[in-house]
Amino acid sequence: MSTSPAVTQTPLTELSAWKALTSHHEKIHTRHLRELFAEDPSRGTRLKAEAEGIYLDYSKHRITDETIKLLLQLAEESGLKERIEAMFRGDKINITEKRAVLHVALRAPKGEKIVVDGQDVVPEVHAVLDHMSAFSERIRSGEWKGHTGKRIKNVVNIGIGGSDLGPVMAYEALKHYSQRDMTFRFVSNVDGTDFAEATIDLDAEETLFIISSKTFTTLETMTNAHTAREWALKKLGDDKAIAKHFVAVSTNAEEVTKFGIDTANMFGFWDWVGGRYSMDSAIGLSTMLAVGPENFRKLLAGFHAMDEHFRSTPFAQNLPVLMGLLSIWYNDFFDAQTVAVLPYDQYLKRFPAYLQQLTMESNGKHVTLSGEHVKYETGPIFWGEPGTNGQHSFYQLIHQGTKLIPCDFIGFAKTLNPLGNHHDLLMANVFAQTEALAFGKTAEEVKAEGTPDWLVPHRVFEGNRPSNTLLLEELTPESLGKLVALYEHSVFTQGAIWQIDSFDQWGVELGKVLAKRIIGELEGPKPTDKHDSSTNTLITHYKKQRG
Ligand code: F6P
Repeated sequence: MSTSPAVTQTPLTELSAWKALTSHHEKIHTRHLRELFAEDPSRGTRLKAEAEGIYLDYSKHRITDETIKLLLQLAEESGLKERIEAMFRGDKINITEKRAVLHVALRAPKGEKIVVDGQDVVPEVHAVLDHMSAFSERIRSGEWKGHTGKRIKNVVNIGIGGSDLGPVMAYEALKHYSQRDMTFRFVSNVDGTDFAEATIDLDAEETLFIISSKTFTTLETMTNAHTAREWALKKLGDDKAIAKHFVAVSTNAEEVTKFGIDTANMFGFWDWVGGRYSMDSAIGLSTMLAVGPENFRKLLAGFHAMDEHFRSTPFAQNLPVLMGLLSIWYNDFFDAQTVAVLPYDQYLKRFPAYLQQLTMESNGKHVTLSGEHVKYETGPIFWGEPGTNGQHSFYQLIHQGTKLIPCDFIGFAKTLNPLGNHHDLLMANVFAQTEALAFGKTAEEVKAEGTPDWLVPHRVFEGNRPSNTLLLEELTPESLGKLVALYEHSVFTQGAIWQIDSFDQWGVELGKVLAKRIIGELEGPKPTDKHDSSTNTLITHYKKQRG
């Protein structure tokens, strides 16, 4: 019988900072940002933090100095400092899977020492990076030839969840730095349309498939991988072609070999890297192929810089800690259900989707480390779209709806594509939106514009809608690494305070098991009676229509 690694902690709601925050919220929750700025006109120059080239303005939050003091106290009382150290030390803080959580080791410079089960993992990390670099150089230079002697021009990453979202997001984010004579595609969905459309115009002789799967057992990925293999063999005719057109990224050498990929063409990682924290492991092979090893190492340097900041900076100036605490403030005291992430950079169009897995698979938990049902809200729903597109879609609800939606605005001082005054127009919208959300427009102001009385209520903006503004100089591999690590550690901060295991994902299991069971029942025309009446009828209806 295995022993329970459950952790005993003082329940969050019994911490004195939590209680103090509860009564503090009672006192200040009706205060308007208009008043807060009027009373303290310089708060915009004070409630900010800047580190590693990221400027965070958090003055447009429904907070006072006292709120920050109490939130920082909450972090202290929650033992956040010790939790951070435990992660960096390689303690098995993912208690339900009995695993260390060491994505920070993926970007540790050579020479640093991080020990897991008696072994320094940093040399292994660098050995894989060197392997990836050598392979990437061969592909990018054209030295590596396909089975028929043609150079590889197309790379298709097959993976799902963390083995897809990070690679897609990073490819899109760093497209400016990518090798433009190569094509990159990403297949994740088990829906055959994903594979069919991704390969429709590709020549198998020039195509490399990266099968990215930590476990190498994920249904979607293995189904797509086998389809890819058939697709390639149909054109290339010969099993020997697999070695030239398929590589694997996985922790499971046995399954990779069974699939027919030579382990010499396998790029490994370790069980202490969670899927949603793996874009800077070998799972980032497609990123390295796109932007080159040098840029990939810059990306890692960016991650590492933010790791160091998180580990060593006092909480009052610590960007991930501040962002995590502010998120808790709205989630737990204002009952805000969601957070909108609004990057004002087209290259970051997949960033919200990436953050959805990072945040929600990590903190969508209702049980504490000691196995109790939580007595408070945990992970908020993350969503978003790049600005300014969202402004013409869902911002209406953020401005005038009935829900409180804290927003993260992300902008860059310099554009990678200077075109006329596009960039100033884009950034003007960042500043305008945060200002409009915070201060709104009163009935008096609306009336003063000559609006007829009956229309006034419709045109009033209540304001008092909070936001973070994150300003960076330019979107580069380094700054992307910093930004992603910032969110990773903000998620860590929140999970530590909520006393949950941010690193397991049992919640995805049940659906997987049931789908496997149902697959068999979909064979043949016979109706099923193995489920509840709703599921039985749906399956029967599907079969009838499918024929
Ligand atoms: O959705 C569950 C999950 O395990 C994710 O955590 C993970 O990123 C994804 O599936 C893919 O897993 P794998 O890389 O093992 O194929």
